[in-house]
Amino acid sequence: MAVEMNNFLPLILFCIAAIISSTVFFQRKKCGYTTKRKLPPGQLGLPFIGETMEFYEAQRINRLFEDFVELRVAKYGKIFKTSLMGLPTIGVNGAKANRFILSNKFKLVISTWPSSSVQLMGRNSIMEKHGDQHRFRRSLITSSLSCSALQSLVPKICRAVQLHLKSYWHGKENVILYCSTKLLTFTSVRVLVGDQCGARDVGDQCGARDVGKFRESSVRCSCSTDQHPWIWIFKGEESKGDNSEDVGESEHDDVMKTKKEGEELTLENVKKMEYSWEAARESMRLFPPIFGSFRKAVADIEYQGFTIPKGWKVLWTAYGTHYDGECFKNPRRYDPSRFQEFVPPYVYVPFGGGPRSCAGYQLAKFNILIFLHYVVTGYDWSLVHPQESIIMYPLPLPSQGIPIYISPKTPK
Ligand code: HEM
Repeated sequence: MAVEMNNFLPLILFCIAAIISSTVFFQRKKCGYTTKRKLPPGQLGLPFIGETMEFYEAQRINRLFEDFVELRVAKYGKIFKTSLMGLPTIGVNGAKANRFILSNKFKLVISTWPSSSVQLMGRNSIMEKHGDQHRFRRSLITSSLSCSALQSLVPKICRAVQLHLKSYWHGKENVILYCSTKLLTFTSVRVLVGDQCGARDVGDQCGARDVGKFRESSVRCSCSTDQHPWIWIFKGEESKGDNSEDVGESEHDDVMKTKKEGEELTLENVKKMEYSWEAARESMRLFPPIFGSFRKAVADIEYQGFTIPKGWKVLWTAYGTHYDGECFKNPRRYDPSRFQEFVPPYVYVPFGGGPRSCAGYQLAKFNILIFLHYVVTGYDWSLVHPQESIIMYPLPLPSQGIPIYISPKTPK
């Protein structure tokens, strides 16, 4: 029996090898690997695995740019090929590439999301729709966040923020900013869908749980993009060394002076918080809450003398321009004043660009500024751990949740 098995073993191994190599060959042919056209330089790595491990490891330690993108840009140039999660992918970098990929109206590329995100958002969500169906859904969202809609949303957001601070900051000596802003994000969403305020009951459900988790130093909470900028603004400001002295406090004081006690902010007031918005933008330049995203080529694309074959993924990242010295002088330096100069389109892209750019941009902006206003006018604050590191889970998160010391503001 053993002898018979030995006779068949080479044949079995040969068959397995033939099946694997023909599968890989046809898979590669289907994806255009064997095309005569010129693919961008780069490595596809091992079959199926590709360079996924390098990508995730770089992302995990918050060095996606340095350890993945920058290395390849230095070696191959701004457009390179790689293979991620079993799919051949072209990485593109720079404002021109951003414009090319992000502005085309579904003719060359469509957006594509991991199946987990699709399950979460649903097959009928805007992210899964293209062409007319996308346009229709997008128009519903943008009209609900139009200027007049925002006009009525601003006082509601103000009330939600004030109630949140009263419930979770009042009388405390420290708060965990991540948990606080996360709670507030839930509340803001409830305000958006018409529920006037739910700060207290949302808090009862998840506030204590999150605080406990951070105390154990195990960051496992899910998160939305919305709370990140608040966190980065606080971190960015303190990294300058002058914390609560300069999140544009004087402009907040100016707005306060025009208000009677208890009177809420208006859209016009919020628009005047220009310096704070520069600080927020700078924070999102250095730490884009969404590093970039994937598109899928729906036709063979000729770009910069290379072919991006139909079916391949295209990865654009915000780092490709945010950390480029040609786009921003001293790109690693925190300097909100750089936004006083004109920034060309597709250079600053934390909210994406083109027909798929963030539909909630204005809402995010107002949420950030209103929260900042009530914090800097109501509290003095400083970071508990000024050197706190950022981890990726899978979006950037402060490793200890950014605890801050707070005390009620002393009148000047
Ligand atoms: C600071 C906070 C936020 C950031 C950094 C952000 C970032 C982004 C980015 C980069 C995209 C484009 C993704 C791509 O091109 O593949 C996007 C799309 C989108 N965002 Fe945001 N977002 C934020 C807040 C919000 C809020 C508060 C809403 C809620 C209204 C929202 C709703 C959307 C929608 C609906 C899309 C899809 C648009 C489309 O496919 O046409 N975002 N966001």
